[in-house]
Amino acid sequence: MSQHFLDQFLFVALPYVCLFTFFLMTVYRYRMQSFSYSSLSSQFLENKHHFWAVVPFHYGILVVTAGHMIAFLIPRTILAWNSHPLRLYVLEVSALAFGLLTLVGLIGVVVRRFSNTKIKNVTTPTDWILFVMLLLQTISGISVALFHPWGSAWFASNLSPYLWSIFKLNPDVSYVAAMPHLVKFHIVLAFLTIGFFPFTRLVHVLVIPNPYLWRKPQVVRWYGRRG
Ligand code: HEM
Repeated sequence: MSQHFLDQFLFVALPYVCLFTFFLMTVYRYRMQSFSYSSLSSQFLENKHHFWAVVPFHYGILVVTAGHMIAFLIPRTILAWNSHPLRLYVLEVSALAFGLLTLVGLIGVVVRRFSNTKIKNVTTPTDWILFVMLLLQTISGISVALFHPWGSAWFASNLSPYLWSIFKLNPDVSYVAAMPHLVKFHIVLAFLTIGFFPFTRLVHVLVIPNPYLWRKPQVVRWYGRRG
């Protein structure tokens, strides 16, 4: 297969298949089994490792995801911010720090699910596939930051227009065709994860329990003898 056809497949056909699957199956699952829209908590089964895994992972992934969204939505503002080298360094180092935090938390999540029998028993094959995908995505993201730096600049100038071209239904692969293999891998795996999203526990991202921010705290009491 020539490079041209491979690029068309990976950066046009595959993204549309994944985005279509995401929208269709997310709505379908919500309508058919809305009570499955959760990342069922395993905190009651094991609480020691839980905190040091799930919490850093979420602080990391939420900041990294928000960073990608901002670069996608307001690329010009990012480029203007980066016009001063010091500000570029601050942005790059902060993004890398949150990427590393994501990785540390994610390794914690996987080790916890491997090492505790109760948690292992409630972990499905889909969970394992998802964890491998998230690990590869996080490792490739950190590698991109290390080996192809100044991503905040070239994402805004190249990847943002590519992503917009996809959403505007006028795909233009020329923005990504000459990208390094590592960057291409990160993009392809991102679309595959979006396509896999509705079949996994990731659906919980769409049902954030906002009322937790203002409702009164709830006290849980255990009755019965200890041990
Ligand atoms: C939008 C805000 C988010 C909220 C409020 C949220 C909340 C939660 C909660 C409550 C759990 C269950 C933890 C437990 O008690 O066991 C969880 C687990 C999880 N979340 Fe999120 N999450 C968010 C975003 C994300 C994002 C963006 C990802 C992206 C990959 C993600 C991936 C995961 C994974 C993989 C787990 C399973 C960890 C495990 O139990 O081993 N979350 N999340």
